[in-house]
Amino acid sequence: MPAISVLLLVSACAGPSPEVPVGPDGVADPVLQLGRDVYSGSCQQCHGSAGEGGAGPRLNGRDLDEDYPQLTDLIEIISGGRERMPSFSSSLSEASITAVARYVREVL
Ligand code: HEC
Repeated sequence: MPAISVLLLVSACAGPSPEVPVGPDGVADPVLQLGRDVYSGSCQQCHGSAGEGGAGPRLNGRDLDEDYPQLTDLIEIISGGRERMPSFSSSLSEASITAVARYVREVL
C-alpha cells in the first residue's frame, strides 16, 4: 500500500507527534493524550517530533522496556534529568511526568 508508506514516512520525519490510538471503546486514553501534549511541548525539540532522536537519543523504534523495565525508571530520568538532559521536576507536575513517560513507552 504505497500511499500508507508515504504517509508513515512523512509523519516519521517532521510534524506533530504521533496520535494516541483509540482503545477498543473508541476513545483514546486521556492520560496518553496529556502525555502527547507534554511531549510536544517539552521533549520533541531534543528527541524529535516522532521520537526519531536529535540532540537527545532516539526514543521510537526500540524497546524502551528492555532498558527501562519499570515505568518508574523513565519517570526518574525525566524528573531528575541525566547528563545533558535537563530535569523536569520543577517545570512539570508529577501527573504530567507520569503521562509523558507512558506516552514515550506506549505510543512512540
Ligand atoms: C535539551 C534536550 C533534551 C530535552 C528537552 C529532553 N531530553 Fe531526554 N535526553 C536528552 C539527552 C542528551 C539524553 C541522553 C542523556 C545521557 O547522556 O544519558 C536524554 C535521555 C532521555 C531518555 C533515556 C534514553 C536512553 O536512551 O537511555 C529518555 C527516556 C528521555 N530522555 C526522555 C525525555 C522526555 C520524556 C523529555 C520531555 C519531558 C525529554 N527527554 C526532554 C536530551 C533532552
